[in-house]
Amino acid sequence: MRSLMSFEPGGPETLRLVDTPKPIPGPAQIQVEVKACGINYPDLLTIQDRYQVKTPRPFAPGAEVAGIVSSIGPGISDFRVGQRVAARIGTGGLAEFVVADVSRCSVIPEGMSFSDAAVMQFTFETAYYALSTRARLKAGETVLVLGAGGGVGIASVQVARNLGGRVIAAGSSQEKVDFACRHGASGSLVYPSTAPEDRREVAALMKGSVGPQGADVIVDPVGGWLSEAAIRSLAEGGRYLVLGFTAGIPSLPLNLPLLKNGDILGINWRTFVLQQSAQNDAHRRELHRWYSEGNLSPGITSEFPLSEGSKAIQMLADRKVAGKVVVMI
Ligand SMILES: NC(=O)c1ccc[n+]([C@@H]2O[C@H](COP(=O)([O-])OP(=O)(O)OC[C@H]3O[C@@H](n4cnc5c(N)ncnc54)[C@H](OP(=O)(O)O)[C@@H]3O)[C@@H](O)[C@H]2O)c1
Repeated sequence: MRSLMSFEPGGPETLRLVDTPKPIPGPAQIQVEVKACGINYPDLLTIQDRYQVKTPRPFAPGAEVAGIVSSIGPGISDFRVGQRVAARIGTGGLAEFVVADVSRCSVIPEGMSFSDAAVMQFTFETAYYALSTRARLKAGETVLVLGAGGGVGIASVQVARNLGGRVIAAGSSQEKVDFACRHGASGSLVYPSTAPEDRREVAALMKGSVGPQGADVIVDPVGGWLSEAAIRSLAEGGRYLVLGFTAGIPSLPLNLPLLKNGDILGINWRTFVLQQSAQNDAHRRELHRWYSEGNLSPGITSEFPLSEGSKAIQMLADRKVAGKVVVMI
């Protein structure tokens, strides 16, 4: 089978399309013929050896896939050959076949395409966990989403809106925040793409955009210099969600949460799923319900074939994506 493999640490240009043996499913595993693989920022971190989970080389990046069950391991009764399934696999998705633990697979609902099913896992389930379980978002609360045009961002915009939040989308270009507004944000602001000399102006822009009460919840998958500007617009009793660091790991003055009686909440969806997979399954069912009702769209804006999978990851590295990128196999 064809696989887009990482043989040494580096950028997307280091990936090579090669022939590899088809993986054989073991006990509690199924083999999936991959039709679509969602691309996420951690795919870039993984091939650069910058992700918190290290995978032995060589490996293919790609953490979320959808396809058809092509073979089942011994003792499997929940899945059968020919079924349409989505699977969360960590790595391996940029290949024609994967094996996946059945605990990480789900049957794709009727009417959902392979590409939508692939990308509705990593970022959407993270956003749901962050906003419901961790932030306990209530209807009517104001949610400021940084990087709102990106993967976690656009998922958070839609999950927050479906939970009844008033969403303010923040992003580095008008195009990205317009995209977020088309997906449910009711207000927006554009921040500079690099740290300006006077960061207080950006803090003031954020405060002005969320309104005088401040943001009850701030979703931050970006980090860097933006985090401090954003936390200054936290409402009394607000919750600040630490999700990711595409712009670097920030340091924050701790007087800011003190002044607001605020909570800083770390989000680790990967360990949540490992420890509470039944709860995550319930989140996925809710996401699928919103999808079937037309209240949630995965927001795919770019598709690539497997042979151009490196380009898909490069788009994220170049900060060029509004929405989601998928590789079709
Ligand atoms: N905690 C968890 O459980 C969890 C789960 C999933 C993902 N994550 C993390 O969430 C973060 C976002 O992942 P994603 O897949 O949503 O990524 P993404 O689609 O690439 O979106 C990230 C956004 O970050 C902003 N950004 C700022 N500086 C950037 C830079 N130098 N390079 C690239 N983007 C930059 C961009 O928005 P603007 O241009 O508008 O600023 C971009 O749209 C990653 O750090 C990922 O590891 C965490």
